[in-house]
Amino acid sequence: MNATYQHITVLLEEAVDALAPRAGGRYVDGTFGRGGHSRALLGRLDPGGQLLGFDKDPQAIATGQALAAEDGRFVVVQRSFAEMGEELAARGLTGRVDGVLLDLGVSSPQLDDPERGFSFLNDGPLDMRMDPSRGVSAAEWIASAAEDEIARVFKEYGEERFARRMARAIVQRRAEKPFERTADLAAVITEANPAWEKGKNPATRAFQGLRIHVNNELGDLERGLDAALEALAVGGRLVVISFHSLEDRIVKQFMRKHAKGEADNLPRDLPIRAKAFEPRLKLLGKPQYASDAELKANPRSRSAVMRVAEKLR
Ligand SMILES: C[S@@+](CC[C@H](N)C(=O)[O-])C[C@H]1O[C@@H](n2cnc3c(N)ncnc32)[C@H](O)[C@@H]1O
Repeated sequence: MNATYQHITVLLEEAVDALAPRAGGRYVDGTFGRGGHSRALLGRLDPGGQLLGFDKDPQAIATGQALAAEDGRFVVVQRSFAEMGEELAARGLTGRVDGVLLDLGVSSPQLDDPERGFSFLNDGPLDMRMDPSRGVSAAEWIASAAEDEIARVFKEYGEERFARRMARAIVQRRAEKPFERTADLAAVITEANPAWEKGKNPATRAFQGLRIHVNNELGDLERGLDAALEALAVGGRLVVISFHSLEDRIVKQFMRKHAKGEADNLPRDLPIRAKAFEPRLKLLGKPQYASDAELKANPRSRSAVMRVAEKLR
């Protein structure tokens, strides 16, 4: 495990407070990372408490296993939180969990270590998988995806205006030589970007799109939220921290759907509104953001939004 790269936990106390831990309760940390939230939560549990951690990343799992070796209340599994339902069912915990935390996206070590292939700033192998032992790497996908598909990923997941030009440039270049390194891909994307945004690397958006696609981040989030709702006991808390608008929209819509009913978006005079809707979630408080002090200490907290809900039935 490489200890050179650290992760500073975002909204640490806020997220643990939002779980309203019960000393002897059962909790799930769907995104263990380097265990910042998990350790703080364990600090609030008594010897009867339990915490199950998930992460896809082998380095996160190594840290989790070290924690599990010293704290018998903690267990970690290398699995997507999208598969939380299967894991909890196998452990007889469906509907019996007091709180689920998801602190989404990538950790700082993943972004900072060039060998993981996420970075357009520091050259490394073009991989980008949180779990490099499964699925298709960014290099493999870029080598074979259709131009339209590359453009869609950059536009939809990266919100990149020049997605089409970038995709065209990639497809032209790969006919001569495949992309194997992050710096090589970043250079071609940068060259195809005609209008650089102030303070933003011209490859930022395309790289974000690629990362979200390679890791199926939005698909996992949708499945993970459904699974979390089933995992929770009545009165249990769901706490989700998002780092970009696409994630936050999914979280917001999921919580609203279960708190206010799917009919919420329909015109008010439709008869369907008359049908009794029984909410499964109650929204707790407003979305929370990092404090000024946290923003100063950790610029990565800038884009964090935390939403909290409680299971009603
Ligand atoms: C922002 S970090 C979490 C940091 C953690 N809360 C801490 O305090 O150290 C996100 C972590 O979630 C993991 N991750 C992202 N999506 C995942 C998924 N679908 N299933 C499991 N782990 C995931 C990443 O590998 C990364 O380690």
